[in-house]
Amino acid sequence: MFKVGIITASDKGASGDREDISGKVIKETIELKGYNLERAVAVPDEEEMLLKEMMYMADELKVDLILTTGGTGFSKRDVTPEATMKACDRMANGIAEAMRYYSLSITPRAMLSRAVSGIRGQTLIINLPGSPKAVRESLEYAIDSIHHGLEILTGKASECAR
Ligand code: MTE
Repeated sequence: MFKVGIITASDKGASGDREDISGKVIKETIELKGYNLERAVAVPDEEEMLLKEMMYMADELKVDLILTTGGTGFSKRDVTPEATMKACDRMANGIAEAMRYYSLSITPRAMLSRAVSGIRGQTLIINLPGSPKAVRESLEYAIDSIHHGLEILTGKASECAR
């Protein structure tokens, strides 16, 4: 089954001042899908540190999917999309756009997420917003299509015919 890395972008999460509930929501959702959690870490909102962790998970651990949570908003320290764009060699922004579009039917504030998604080698990287509620809403909506994308990316499926 697919191997997953979770990155929680949060200064407070990384220093231990805040419990990482969003990371736990991701873990629950991917484990329900039968995926294996390879590594879950909280990283400060620093572009270089986030990029380094994405590269480690993709290139060394060879995870199939990296899900990030947090750091997609407008605050000065929200830099997860910038790190993700640097990590990816091909953008696949349909995933982030679809999650944002669906989320707009729940809250207009979904437009404030700058989340992106893309591919580094054989690894799909997807940004999710920071709140546990937003993570659950976005991931539950997208996970089945993400699964199909992973099958194609890893060569387990070669076409989209049902
Ligand atoms: N998406 C969903 N599905 N549900 C939400 O409650 N909150 C929004 C948005 N996306 C939200 C959502 C809000 S209020 C913000 S500010 C942005 O995500 C960015 O969040 P982040 O900075 O924690 O990543």
